[in-house]
Amino acid sequence: MQKTVVNSWNEWDPLKHVIVGRADDCHIPPEEPALDAKVPEDSDMRGQWGRRPQETIDRANELLDNFAVLLEKRGVRVDRPTPIDHALPVTTPDFNTDSQFGCMPPRDVLLTVGSEMLEATMSYRCRWFEYLNYRPLMQKYFDEDPNFRHESAPKPRLTDADYHPDYLSDKIGVEKRLQWAAEKFFVTTEEEPLFDAADVLRFGRDLVVQHGFTTNLKGIEWLRRHFPDHRVHTVNFPGDPYPIHIDATFTPLRPGLILNNPQRRLPEDQRGMFEANDWEIVDAAQPAHNTPPPLCYSSTWLSMNVLVLDPKTVCVEKSEVYQAEQMDKLGMEVVEVELRDAYAFGGGLHCCTADVYREGGCEDYFP
Ligand code: NVA
Repeated sequence: MQKTVVNSWNEWDPLKHVIVGRADDCHIPPEEPALDAKVPEDSDMRGQWGRRPQETIDRANELLDNFAVLLEKRGVRVDRPTPIDHALPVTTPDFNTDSQFGCMPPRDVLLTVGSEMLEATMSYRCRWFEYLNYRPLMQKYFDEDPNFRHESAPKPRLTDADYHPDYLSDKIGVEKRLQWAAEKFFVTTEEEPLFDAADVLRFGRDLVVQHGFTTNLKGIEWLRRHFPDHRVHTVNFPGDPYPIHIDATFTPLRPGLILNNPQRRLPEDQRGMFEANDWEIVDAAQPAHNTPPPLCYSSTWLSMNVLVLDPKTVCVEKSEVYQAEQMDKLGMEVVEVELRDAYAFGGGLHCCTADVYREGGCEDYFP
């Protein structure tokens, strides 16, 4: 019998079907403009590249497998990608890079809006072919669901014209970076539309998109034209010197409630739609750790990179005790999930998943 397989309009309705990434064959890619701009200047990742150590891949896979089993036990169907060979270079007529990234995290690549799954343009050269890890699943959904829309945004050329050369230094300093972030001067130029799916949050009829290193204004305009029935809002978080991916910065938990990173508060002039509709934006709890784990691109704020299972239930990383305590106070049931040793592969509980099906339809939360 034919059925609806793909349906998800927001970040909180009851989750029934999800993709969980795999750490197999993940690489630290060679230097390239947009990626380098994101690596903090004091990071242990500066100057390193190559296949990640096997023991870290095995450990990350163990945690991802356990997370998949936990979700299945709670009645969520879980699919896994099919890793391509990430040791292969990416070569196009416009650029070459010597290795790829991995099939983590799926949230960066796949944007689910209703019955559509959209492959993002991506803005790192090493992630140009990353959508191929998910093509077997896309084909399956296409066969199973007559209403599934499999879409792919135009592949960018990613020539040097896509990147501001000012960012091609490892000695910029955080002060300068913060000034540039406040001026909305990011590493990517407006040469062509660029976006990563993890810069987009779904609030039913409204899509909230972070303008930063991985998503430019043309990318947001492309999304606006692609989703003509949605209202697309551009947001910035000037407190973030490395602004990529919105999901350790702004985390909706249920209708009316959003966690905001206290170091990256949404500016007053961008709060109108939330305030006018009585949405509360609360500071997230402090992370439990002072530093990210080794060889990790992300900040300690993966603490707030939670996966909402339904408006009353949320998965929080097991060591993030302050975040779990805050969720409890906010009236959420907390499901503890151990994932910290997989953070280095591209993120936390929200990052390492991509929605396939949540119950519910397209609501207007900001009438
Ligand atoms: N901007 C993020 C990426 C996390 C998903 C960070 O805090 O590192």
